[in-house]
Amino acid sequence: MNIVLLGAPGAGKGTQAARLVDEFGLVQVSTGDLLRAAARAGTPLGIEAKGYMDAGELVPDSLVIGLIKEFLAKPEAAQGVILDGFPRNTTQAVALAAEFDALGLEIDLAIAIQVDFEVIVARLAARRCCKDCGLIGSVDDMICPACGGEMYQRDDDMPQTVRNRLAIYEKSTAPLIEYYRGADLLIEVDGDRHPDIVFADIKKYMV
Ligand code: AP5
Ligand code: MG
Repeated sequence: MNIVLLGAPGAGKGTQAARLVDEFGLVQVSTGDLLRAAARAGTPLGIEAKGYMDAGELVPDSLVIGLIKEFLAKPEAAQGVILDGFPRNTTQAVALAAEFDALGLEIDLAIAIQVDFEVIVARLAARRCCKDCGLIGSVDDMICPACGGEMYQRDDDMPQTVRNRLAIYEKSTAPLIEYYRGADLLIEVDGDRHPDIVFADIKKYMV
């Protein structure tokens, strides 16, 4: 199966993608994770992307579309992908559809995880991630519960940046909900419940 995960910053896309990987053997691709890795490695792409990310803006379409095309060309993508954080606007959605067509693949499901913005602001203030394995945790995790690595706060989780990310989500990404509803691919789940309950809901559609 090939799945698009939609949802505002902090809605729980990464949290649910990890569960889908574990249970269904799909491969996750998060453009945010790829861009952060490029920024850490100091590549030209990473250096260019970091300015946009730190400001909570979208990175230019040409850069992220290139990353996704590169990923979809890899052999492991054939086992089914979870697109986490891509597409993020109509231009990216149209490019994705064209790339899937060219590869003879189909998007099977678009899952929109819905959470109120006030809940999200609190969640992101408390989020901490593992520097080594990428685990998504909280401020209560002094070290990574999975690998013992160092936990850090993302640069774009500062409250002012979060507000900008939410505004951009509303303007550019939320319209994709109607785009995928129109294509008869959309399911919506209430993301303001325990992650296991959210996942149980998602699993009902994994046929
Ligand atoms: P990206 O990394 O994709 O960030 P995002 O979309 O803003 O989403 P997050 O990763 O912040 O949240 P999430 O939905 O994954 O939630 P999580 O599971 O971590 O993008 C970052 C930046 O990169 C963008 O701003 C942009 O600059 C750039 N970028 C990326 N893709 C791009 C694209 N396609 N085009 C252009 N630019 C792009 O959960 C959040 C917190 O909540 C965690 O602490 C978690 O433990 C907790 N949590 C999760 N689920 C629950 C629950 N059910 N109940 C309680 N707490 C929960
Ligand atoms: Mg994420």
